[in-house]
Amino acid sequence: MQIKIFDNKEELYTSAALQIFQDIVANPKMLLGLATGETMIPLYKKLHTLLKSEDLKSIKTINLDEYVGIQKTHPQSFYSFMAEYFFNIFDISKSNINFLNGFNDLNEEINNMNQFLSENTIHTQLLGIGSNGHIAFNEPKTNFDIRTHLVELDTQTRLDNSRFFKSFQDVPTHALTLGIKDIFQSKHILMIAIGQKKADAVNQMINGPITNLLPASILQDHPSITVYLDTDAASKL
Ligand code: F6R
Repeated sequence: MQIKIFDNKEELYTSAALQIFQDIVANPKMLLGLATGETMIPLYKKLHTLLKSEDLKSIKTINLDEYVGIQKTHPQSFYSFMAEYFFNIFDISKSNINFLNGFNDLNEEINNMNQFLSENTIHTQLLGIGSNGHIAFNEPKTNFDIRTHLVELDTQTRLDNSRFFKSFQDVPTHALTLGIKDIFQSKHILMIAIGQKKADAVNQMINGPITNLLPASILQDHPSITVYLDTDAASKL
């Protein structure tokens, strides 16, 4: 695990975006694993500056997760987030987008994604981390061998994400998510964590035992992961 700590968030995002940019230029047909969340917004903005003159038509994308029970057009769906910060901005081919839909038949969505991932390997996966140590929506007590599945969201996750909804009650209770096994099989992982709120989870991910009580701790065993931290997220290391 390579850990990079930055005093300055601007420099952190510039450095992370450059790593992805170089990766995309070197692998123009890659399957790029995308994440949603507040942490990713400055990254996608930086990437836009770097990639605006690149032809990205051969890039395939896959997203980690989506809420169950809301339409993809709902303003708080992860699809709407990605449309705003990525799909409507970058010159990518819409047919190359792979995205779970939590408003379709869930078994069919899971089977289709598992099939897709048995035929395609994620080249680089972007990850954030939850304050409870989740990655994607693999919540504490997840099974490390699980592939794409339906998950009941942890109360902490629903509380954290209620900032995007009118009230806590409006936050969906379930989601579809790629499993730990899917994420682990990515060739490269780039994680970003920002802020004091992530400091405990980051410390346990890096220094704690590997345990499904802190799902991100499994990343200690990944052969190629770079973790970008600001000084607040790194403050408990
Ligand atoms: C989002 C995702 C989540 C987030 C995590 C951090 O697709 O998979 O695991 O990365 O919840 O979210 P933010 O960045 O909003 O703190």
